[in-house]
Amino acid sequence: MVEFGLGGKVAIVTGASQGIGEAIAVAFAQAGARVVVSSRKLESIAKVAQEIESAGGQAIAIQAHMGYMDQVKSLVAQTLDKWERVDIIVNNAGTNPHFGPILTADEGQFEKILDINLKGYFRLAQAVVPQMKEQGGGKIINVASIAGLRPPHKMGVYGISKAGDIMLTQVLARELGPYNIQVNAIAPGIVQTKFSRALWEDAELMARHEANVPLRRIGTPEDVTGAALYLASSASDWVTGTVLVVDGGANLISMV
Ligand SMILES: NC(=O)c1ccc[n+]([C@@H]2O[C@H](COP(=O)([O-])OP(=O)(O)OC[C@H]3O[C@@H](n4cnc5c(N)ncnc54)[C@H](OP(=O)(O)O)[C@@H]3O)[C@@H](O)[C@H]2O)c1
Repeated sequence: MVEFGLGGKVAIVTGASQGIGEAIAVAFAQAGARVVVSSRKLESIAKVAQEIESAGGQAIAIQAHMGYMDQVKSLVAQTLDKWERVDIIVNNAGTNPHFGPILTADEGQFEKILDINLKGYFRLAQAVVPQMKEQGGGKIINVASIAGLRPPHKMGVYGISKAGDIMLTQVLARELGPYNIQVNAIAPGIVQTKFSRALWEDAELMARHEANVPLRRIGTPEDVTGAALYLASSASDWVTGTVLVVDGGANLISMV
């Protein structure tokens, strides 16, 4: 029987106060992992951790801003203080302060998007890999986007950051494979969260999108959890450097 369970594993999920990250944290706990729920807002992540515990899972909340290496290192250190290992990280914290043609983005917005969406993923990988090497392996999952595969509508800088996440995934997969660390990406299509509100609140754009996307709907955060569970579990032990597209088939059609 292929093993999809996460019993005995410790996982850090960033951006887990809401949306896709929260759904992944809950799913990992249900699969038996001890889960570190992280984001900038302690109150929100404490609530998620509490809900996991109330449902019989194991979780703690650790606050960290992914733009600061000292906070990222402290996230790993606090996890080790509590549970003495880290088997899985899910780089998921993301932001997009610019919506419009790419040349209307200012330098500050460009820097912020790359700093969190791309360098933030690099920071956590750099902070955690020595521990994974010592343990003899690990799983790194980077939440990218189909916006990193084809040029997105009015989200150009964001698309560049997500294309960067995909290349970061492939570079790390190549370099860390010999240490039994698998590094993979998930590329979701439009998932209904606060983050994508500008898209799903645009009724005309949604009508066009849902009429064309093969599975005829946008996603829920829970639609992404199966891919994350697969890439976190030993079922994917011979899979590295891949990009698992989870988008209802949206990437098969022309962009809206
Ligand atoms: N929704 C979509 O359609 C979609 C599609 C493809 C890919 N994605 C990707 O999926 C990931 C999650 O997106 P989502 O839709 O679930 O978004 P969301 O609901 O807005 O959640 C974003 C999460 O990131 C955290 N965060 C933001 N900036 C942070 C920072 N500097 N440091 C630490 N945490 C930070 C937020 O928590 P705090 O505010 O508490 O810090 C929140 O938990 C992102 O990487 C996004 O690019 C989303």
